Amino acid sequence: MTHATPVPVYLDCDTGVDDAVALAYLLASPGVDLVGIGTVSGNTSAEQATRNTLDLLALAGRDDIPVATGAHDHLSHGYGGGAPHVHGENGIGGVELARATRAEHPAGAVDLLLELSHRHAGRLHVLTIGPVTNIAHALAADPTLPHRVSHVTTMGGAALSTGNISPVAEANIHNDPEAAAALLAADWDVTLVPLDVTLEHTLSDADREALTAAPSAFIRAVGDILDHYFDFYRPLYGVRSCALHDPLAAALAAGGSVTSRAPRVPVTVDTTQGPGRGQTIADLRGQRLGPVDHEGSRVRVVLETAEPLAPHLVQTLVGYGVDPR
Ligand code: BDR
Ligand code: CA
Repeated sequence: MTHATPVPVYLDCDTGVDDAVALAYLLASPGVDLVGIGTVSGNTSAEQATRNTLDLLALAGRDDIPVATGAHDHLSHGYGGGAPHVHGENGIGGVELARATRAEHPAGAVDLLLELSHRHAGRLHVLTIGPVTNIAHALAADPTLPHRVSHVTTMGGAALSTGNISPVAEANIHNDPEAAAALLAADWDVTLVPLDVTLEHTLSDADREALTAAPSAFIRAVGDILDHYFDFYRPLYGVRSCALHDPLAAALAAGGSVTSRAPRVPVTVDTTQGPGRGQTIADLRGQRLGPVDHEGSRVRVVLETAEPLAPHLVQTLVGYGVDPR
């Protein structure tokens, strides 16, 4: 299959097990040109996320992609210690990868994003799969950033679903609600990929085993990294399995997954210190009336996709590095 010019993508992540899967998917997607990666604290510290990202890229043979460390602390509070019970002590399921030999990009994530926004002005797609602290800093440093970005895809929030880190809040948004509010209020088109849809897309143990038998050592490592994550999700799904939060956002950004229900509605974030902190409040009151798009809103909330992600994801990952001829 031939592709038009690949879309330049800046990835902001807290690598993280499902972040690692999303990264692998982006590298395997011919329609994507991954031009830079910034890290942020979330699942693990920003520093550990950088190390994980560099090590994964080395294994993938992609040392050409710049990786810059971003915010260790969030806008209103310090880094909370991550989620080792979900992602393992090192963020990638306890799997020890060979250390990358190269260093991170000398500029921080904010400067890398701003530089890329100039280099790819009008075409850059920003994909966030962690707390969006770096994006808020970039918007504060240069409020003209949205004019140079073609689209923002953000994994985060819970529209009609319950939360996962609190009864109402999803982890990425809850880790930095003020930053999420800034991203959602900025003058750009946003696709918000909340728990409502990401929890509906899962990987089976057979899928994971297919990854551990892939031709690429990089993809086999991703299969191993998923093992710990599957244990965490077992009580939720009743079988060894996992949700595909970040991979779904990556697939939507890459065009490998398409939405079948994604209304354009106002979305605000609860930034109070009360029990609702971090909740995404999407105005979906009209949802039973058919299309509920609000003319003034630039945020689409993905509630459903046309196809299940797992078959496409597994096929794409297993094919990584395999000559298509
Ligand atoms: C999100 O939080 C992180 O744990 C995952 O990597 C994902 O980005 C899901 O709530
Ligand atoms: Ca993540």
